[in-house]
Amino acid sequence: MLLKIFFVRHWPRYGLGILLLIVTDLLSLLIPGAVGKAVDRIGQGDGQVQELLLLIGAVAIAMAILRFLYREFIIGTTRRLEYYLRDQIFKHALYLPMNTYDDSGPGKIMALIVNDVTSVRVAIGLGIMMLVDAVIMGLASFLVMFHNIDPSLTFWSVAPLPFVLVGTAWLGRIVHVRFRRVQEKFSELTEFAQELFGGIKVVKAFGAETRFIDRFSQVNRNNMTANLSLAEIQAIYIPITHVAPLLCYAIALLVGGRLIMEGKISVGDLTAFTGYLGLIIWPVMGLGYLVNIVQRGMASGVRINEFLAMRKHESFTDENASEQAAIDGEIEFRGLSFQYPLASTPSLKEVTLRIPAGETVGIVGRTGSGKTTLLRLLLCLYPAPDGTVYIDGKDINQYEIAGLRKAIGYVPQDSALFSLTIGENIAFGETYDRDRIAEAARRAVVETDIDSRTEGYDTLLGEKGVRLSGGQRQRVAVARALIRNSSVLLLDDVFASLDYKTQNQLVENLHEYEAGRTTVIVSQRVAAVKHARFIVVMDNGRICAQGTHEQLIQAKGLYYKLYEQQLAAGEAT
Ligand SMILES: Nc1ncnc2c1ncn2[C@@H]1O[C@H](COP(=O)(O)OP(=O)(O)OP(=O)(O)O)[C@@H](O)[C@H]1O
Ligand SMILES: [Mg+2]
Repeated sequence: MLLKIFFVRHWPRYGLGILLLIVTDLLSLLIPGAVGKAVDRIGQGDGQVQELLLLIGAVAIAMAILRFLYREFIIGTTRRLEYYLRDQIFKHALYLPMNTYDDSGPGKIMALIVNDVTSVRVAIGLGIMMLVDAVIMGLASFLVMFHNIDPSLTFWSVAPLPFVLVGTAWLGRIVHVRFRRVQEKFSELTEFAQELFGGIKVVKAFGAETRFIDRFSQVNRNNMTANLSLAEIQAIYIPITHVAPLLCYAIALLVGGRLIMEGKISVGDLTAFTGYLGLIIWPVMGLGYLVNIVQRGMASGVRINEFLAMRKHESFTDENASEQAAIDGEIEFRGLSFQYPLASTPSLKEVTLRIPAGETVGIVGRTGSGKTTLLRLLLCLYPAPDGTVYIDGKDINQYEIAGLRKAIGYVPQDSALFSLTIGENIAFGETYDRDRIAEAARRAVVETDIDSRTEGYDTLLGEKGVRLSGGQRQRVAVARALIRNSSVLLLDDVFASLDYKTQNQLVENLHEYEAGRTTVIVSQRVAAVKHARFIVVMDNGRICAQGTHEQLIQAKGLYYKLYEQQLAAGEAT
């Protein structure tokens, strides 16, 4: 368990923090006693209070220093814990198989990293400080009052506290429920705005502004309603928590006044008593809140542990050390059927296909026919059933995944680029020299686009950088795959947003590059696949035809239809 691992290393700081907190709490007990004594001396006409004042001053200074130190140690440790937990969760999340993302989505991981880590930190920081205060200061004050001043006075004065505690705990729970609702509504509001501004081009293009303004108003109003209902309950809760303690003081004055008149205690005793009462009341009143903090922290801790216990992909050994798998690149599918975890129907049905090492194969087919899925299974982004996918005659599930992936160059259909420079996006974590990057860019027909920018390969992309066109992004992604010099190359629809001149140039370059490499080209463009050794036509998760360009033309099926359309448009040559 993570917390244990963390505290094994960090307990000296944290433990010292708690120790200093206890000392501070005990020191604070000296003050009411000293004040009481001073009052008595003044009452007796004795002006000798200097040493008491000195004591109070010294204790105050010592407490200030101790407070600084224990906060530094305790809060400091919890901030380190927060850092550590976030790092662990992030690292774990990156190595989880894709299907866990389909189940829970990035939202759940974000919630873990943001909310759950925070509530664990609060429980271990603020929670522990409140607990120590309540136990040490509350209990010790009680004992001092009971023992040194007067038992019956103590009893009557603290008698209302249990009732106040139950009442405020009950109200506090309602506050908490409403507070959660406010948080929910607020995150709905920010998510709505984020999504809207992310897609602002579409909204404007469709003239849908007013519709979104209305919907935003609704979300905004929900947020306000939730806030109003919270404010309402807080309007009751806050005065009660502030007024209720006064009841204890009233009783103390009433009962204490009588005891003074009876000569059982002195005025100084009563003064000290009210001081101790002050030390008890707040920690005790805070007990309800403390329980809440601890419960939340524990629930979050359980969620974090459950997440971290989620199985990594089986064949990951050591994530960083994986060497590129030495493969020739023969790919074989044997009766492969596959269904996504959340889907109701299979996306691939009985796919059987052999691609000899070093050959180029084209895959065409209607949208949704399973082309992308086939490539994802080759990358082990989703686990294929045992005995259905083989590379070099070995079941894909027997490979060490990271090493296998390194041996495969992949250009996804929606090429994700990151907020890095163009050069870094191409090298993608590996160290290649500039010439090699430029060579990959040249092959991917994106070199001139990059050279035309003043900063060339150092041009920053992403949020704070420049935007590339759809076709430019595609080709940067192609360069990223080509530079790896892998034995297998998977291209998913990389020609879709290219003009025909660029497409033909890229096809030509790839053709040159493909020599000796197993290459799978998914495309709807006949020109992109016709030079392939053979072409597979997919329909509804199945392979419905396969053969060379000429054979498929003669078969007059789906491929022929595509060819005719593109021929008519003058594009197929
Ligand atoms: N993560 C997923 N979860 C559930 N179903 C999915 C998932 N990804 C794809 N599918 C479904 O699997 C089927 C095949 O999808 P796939 O992306 O492989 O098609 P494709 O042939 O690549 O289509 P396109 O030409 O449009 O890219 C589709 O019906 C799709 O809805
Ligand atoms: Mg696809």
